[in-house]
Amino acid sequence: MPKLRGSILLVDDEEKILKALGRALREAGHEVVETASARQAQKLLGERTFDLFIVDNVMPEKSGLELIREYVGSTSDGRGAVGLGPSEDRAQIVMMTAHATVESAIEAMKLGAFDYLQKPFEIDELLVVVRRALDLQRLRTEYRYLLSERDEQFDHYGIIGASRAMGEVIQRAELVAETKSTVLITGETGTGKELVARAIHDRSAQRDMPLIKVNCAAIPETLLESELFGHVRGAFTGAVGTKKGKFALADGGTIFLDEIGTMSLTLQSKLLRVLQEREFEPLGAERTERVDLRVIAATNRDLRQMVSDGKFQEDLFYRLNVIPIAIPPLRERREDIPPLVEHFLRKHAQRTGRRIERIDEGVLADLQQYDWPGNVRELENTIERAVVLTPGPVVTSRAISIVGAASPQATGLPSLKLRQNIEWVERETIRRALENAGGVKKDAAELMGISQRALSYYLAKYRID
Ligand SMILES: Nc1ncnc2c1ncn2[C@@H]1O[C@H](COP(=O)(O)OP(=O)(O)OP(=O)(O)O)[C@@H](O)[C@H]1O
Ligand SMILES: [Mg+2]
Repeated sequence: MPKLRGSILLVDDEEKILKALGRALREAGHEVVETASARQAQKLLGERTFDLFIVDNVMPEKSGLELIREYVGSTSDGRGAVGLGPSEDRAQIVMMTAHATVESAIEAMKLGAFDYLQKPFEIDELLVVVRRALDLQRLRTEYRYLLSERDEQFDHYGIIGASRAMGEVIQRAELVAETKSTVLITGETGTGKELVARAIHDRSAQRDMPLIKVNCAAIPETLLESELFGHVRGAFTGAVGTKKGKFALADGGTIFLDEIGTMSLTLQSKLLRVLQEREFEPLGAERTERVDLRVIAATNRDLRQMVSDGKFQEDLFYRLNVIPIAIPPLRERREDIPPLVEHFLRKHAQRTGRRIERIDEGVLADLQQYDWPGNVRELENTIERAVVLTPGPVVTSRAISIVGAASPQATGLPSLKLRQNIEWVERETIRRALENAGGVKKDAAELMGISQRALSYYLAKYRID
């Protein structure tokens, strides 16, 4: 276990003890501020933060218990506390006491002290208590940090953008989060539909309940119904057990129906009923289940067009399209590109441990020109690759390869770029074929004119599932 060093305020009116304990703590590697005066201690506590406050109880100016009471009072109501909230930077407290005053020690514990030491004690005993107190203090600091980070993420929902269009998307997501209304998120592939769906759930009153995602395109038609509504044993060949459906799992929370445009007309009618009645029957079951949840659906298809083509039920469309959120493609909000680039650079530099300071301005201009058919996902992939390929602190055109961006000055590493471009095209082609085939591999392979075995190879290569 690594040695944990902390800042300690040590208070004892008996100079000899003060010196001895101070020395021992310093030898153990801690930063120690010591004082024999309770007044001075009070002043110090108001001026700066400590990890640990060790105080003797019986002192002439003020008792240790009084000091503790004042300190706890000043940090819990926010007065004199540094930082954001109650107990924000409050030190752990350890009281030293002679046998006769153990009652005050217990009083101190009630006030929130970490522990007490009964005099006389061995130095080792002190060191153990100190280490445990500092451990706890470190956990508390980390926990607080995580909380603040989480709050920050909720504030921005992890959605980066500077454009008016994204501002409106965020605003609408915020407003709808407060309701339980059904939301339909539309946008091209990679525009951030799932990100927005999660943001809505995370902001809602149901955020502690589950968000259950169903990718309607990835599940074969024959299984989707039981996936959504569950089944009982023997409901169909192969139904060996009873299984809860996603609707039941999401009860109380949110169900996210991704790629809703790929759902068959039959299943669409069943879904319509759940949306209308909030009830359904698991496959093969005689009972009806009721659910209380929010539905968020997403699609990159034009559902209105599908309705006119007879491929999507009109009633279902209106049931889903209660609160529409349309995310524009990245090429229609190019102002978002620089902050996104910045965000992804930082994210992937951190992830890979690279020291990347910035991106060459010419390169950024190129990125802003490009049309990004794969939208934010493609931009992120491009930046991730660039971070991996960049040795120095500045990302230059050598590390950037974007499909179709015929940048004349991009001369570096042509073969590498070619390969990456080909890989990107392959991966996107497969993704789209799968999507168009409603997730059925056989059909996707046929669409691309390759064998199913070849498709399996590519799926493994690009880790697509
Ligand atoms: N505005 C944004 N800020 C930060 N990251 C974003 C933003 N938009 C998208 N991303 C990131 O881009 C990737 C793709 O986003 P997401 O999966 O939400 O897209 P999608 O619209 O659901 O795509 P598809 O239709 O292909 O499923 C994710 O990693 C997401 O975190
Ligand atoms: Mg998605």
